[in-house]
Amino acid sequence: MFDLSKFSLKGKTAVVTGGGRGIGKAIAIGFAKAGAKVAITSRKVDDLEATAAEIKSFGGVAFPIQSHLGKMDEIRKMVDAAMEKLGGRIDILVNNAGASPNTLSVLDSDERLWETIMNLNLRGLYFTSQAVAKIMKNQGGGSIINIASIDGFKPEFGVSVYSISKAGVRMITNAFAAELASCHIRVNTIAPGPFDTKMMNSHWFHLTPDEAKKQKAALERVLPMGHIGNPDEIAGAAIYLASDASSYTTGAEIVIDGGVLLSHIQPVQD
Ligand SMILES: NC(=O)c1ccc[n+]([C@@H]2O[C@H](COP(=O)([O-])OP(=O)(O)OC[C@H]3O[C@@H](n4cnc5c(N)ncnc54)[C@H](OP(=O)(O)O)[C@@H]3O)[C@@H](O)[C@H]2O)c1
Repeated sequence: MFDLSKFSLKGKTAVVTGGGRGIGKAIAIGFAKAGAKVAITSRKVDDLEATAAEIKSFGGVAFPIQSHLGKMDEIRKMVDAAMEKLGGRIDILVNNAGASPNTLSVLDSDERLWETIMNLNLRGLYFTSQAVAKIMKNQGGGSIINIASIDGFKPEFGVSVYSISKAGVRMITNAFAAELASCHIRVNTIAPGPFDTKMMNSHWFHLTPDEAKKQKAALERVLPMGHIGNPDEIAGAAIYLASDASSYTTGAEIVIDGGVLLSHIQPVQD
């Protein structure tokens, strides 16, 4: 008989990359509230420490680990540090850290932009997964959650390289899920639509605060559910995929976009 306690993360350990702000922070807090010990990583220590303090304020356990996941040597160091902080076990990995610098069109994207995005969104995600999957295999299993984007289904104007990287993230999920199912490692994708974070707001970086507010309001008016997602609206799906409640779910994609993919709008318009 199904038991609600399967949604609990009590006794589990998790790594959430990009866990200092935005969607990663909401997931890290959700995991800690569900009982997991959480290691959060990103480049900026201040964000990590603030999030760790918030988690500790409600009795959760969080460890900040500074790391640039676009660099191969830092990936290895981050995974070693997480193993040490989490007591030699990683049950859950959320590959959430991502970058989306703006460009104008496919004609303007240069090699530097390509490398910045691909080194983090694809290479970083792949090799973080590989390092943690080896640990999970030795442990007898685990859950990996990759944060893609609805842009990986349908390209968004102005962020072609990002869209390509996110399509790649979906395939990383499939490749790892297919090969690692027999090791009891489940690998799934969450594909967010528009969420109110620093990344989302950077689309309007060139506007004055008043103009940006107007653009945001205009976007909300055309969104099917009438609002840009709040990062908290993603945590539940991550808890489900991390927990034993999803024990037979692997290679799946959960789109969390308030219906945007089903509509005919571009999520961000200037
Ligand atoms: N917000 C949206 O509308 C939306 C939509 C679809 C998908 N997503 C995806 O959701 C994920 C989270 O994005 P978000 O919206 O929460 O954006 P965000 O607020 O900009 O957060 C991105 C996180 O990634 C970290 N990060 C960036 N570059 C890094 C690097 N080189 N090494 C390690 N960490 C790095 C950032 O911290 P530091 O800067 O301190 O390193 C930050 O914690 C991303 O994968 C994004 O593509 C977001």
